[in-house]
Amino acid sequence: MTSTVRVNLDSRSYDVVIGSGLIAQAATHLAPLLRRPKVWIVTEDRVAPLHLPHLEAALSAGGIAASALTLPAGEGTKSWQYLTQTVEWLLDEKVERGDIVIALGGGVIGDLVGFAAAILRRGVRFVQMPSSLLAQVDSSVGGKTGINTRHGKNLVGAFHQPSLVLADIDLLSTLAPRDFLAGYGEVVKYGLLGDAAFFDWLEENAPAMAAGDLALREEAVRWSVQMKADIVARDETEQGDRALLNLGHTFCHALEAATGYSDRLLHGEGVAIGCALAAELSARLGLCPQEEPSRIRAHLAEMGMKRDLADIEGDLPDADALLALMAQDKKVLEGQLRFILMRGIGTSFVTSDVPPDAVKTLLNEALGARN
Ligand code: GLY
Repeated sequence: MTSTVRVNLDSRSYDVVIGSGLIAQAATHLAPLLRRPKVWIVTEDRVAPLHLPHLEAALSAGGIAASALTLPAGEGTKSWQYLTQTVEWLLDEKVERGDIVIALGGGVIGDLVGFAAAILRRGVRFVQMPSSLLAQVDSSVGGKTGINTRHGKNLVGAFHQPSLVLADIDLLSTLAPRDFLAGYGEVVKYGLLGDAAFFDWLEENAPAMAAGDLALREEAVRWSVQMKADIVARDETEQGDRALLNLGHTFCHALEAATGYSDRLLHGEGVAIGCALAAELSARLGLCPQEEPSRIRAHLAEMGMKRDLADIEGDLPDADALLALMAQDKKVLEGQLRFILMRGIGTSFVTSDVPPDAVKTLLNEALGARN
């Protein structure tokens, strides 16, 4: 069984195909896009041994040749160094304007390869084959590509939409439980930002989904991708509504910086904690019912996820330092911090009208609860 979500962007529209067994069917899905029977795959060294031979065999059986470049796994690969390596390899391989490059991996590979494709010969097409839950529900859809620099994450990049996304949910079975749950932080985000019915559904179904139910996994990915596709179609370059996808991210980015972008806090874990903090802040500002933050935390607890600053091991800087890190966020506009807050589960909105003292008090109390 597969589901298809269309991302409607005029001439740059594309399908996100979600389901089981898609790697095996890759040649069928790719063939209509190809001008010659060859593709170039960029992947990383944790994903390659698990999935690359299977993909190459499936392509070969469908008459499509493939060359592959395997980069190191990890956030450090989203850098100038590996961007250069990727672009030079594609040029060595004589990839042409009409060819297709495949990004096989999680968010790091998707962002890097998408950016390489955006700048190679002023833009070649690429296909996302996301291997992590986070990439399937978020980063592979919507065309944000880029790398990190010493100034921060995702500061150099381009909007470059893929020509197709193949989200094979079988690949999620090879994820470590912690990585799966971190990706789940982005799934919860969708329920919170725009669809209370989805949050209700997650409360009922997410434990079985995390335990491995494939039909539920497909439905969770489909629902998330449909929500993202609708938002991206309304606001591709984040002039308005797309910022809603950053729910929890202002807190998350500060916490990721404070923990050195290390294994102490994975991105999706920071998103989950950030969503809980955003709900708490909304309740304290009288914007949303008082019981919503507890309901969100209860669901995260049931899923075995981090939900409070107390769940982050090791030292954290004080509230002033966390606020200073927030002020470096890309979402700062004319010096004003922008938050995504909630009127309730499923109803979020963007605002710059948040008293810094309220944020500081919240952080102080959350930090205090760690002792
Ligand atoms: N991950 C947020 C966005 O794509 O806009």
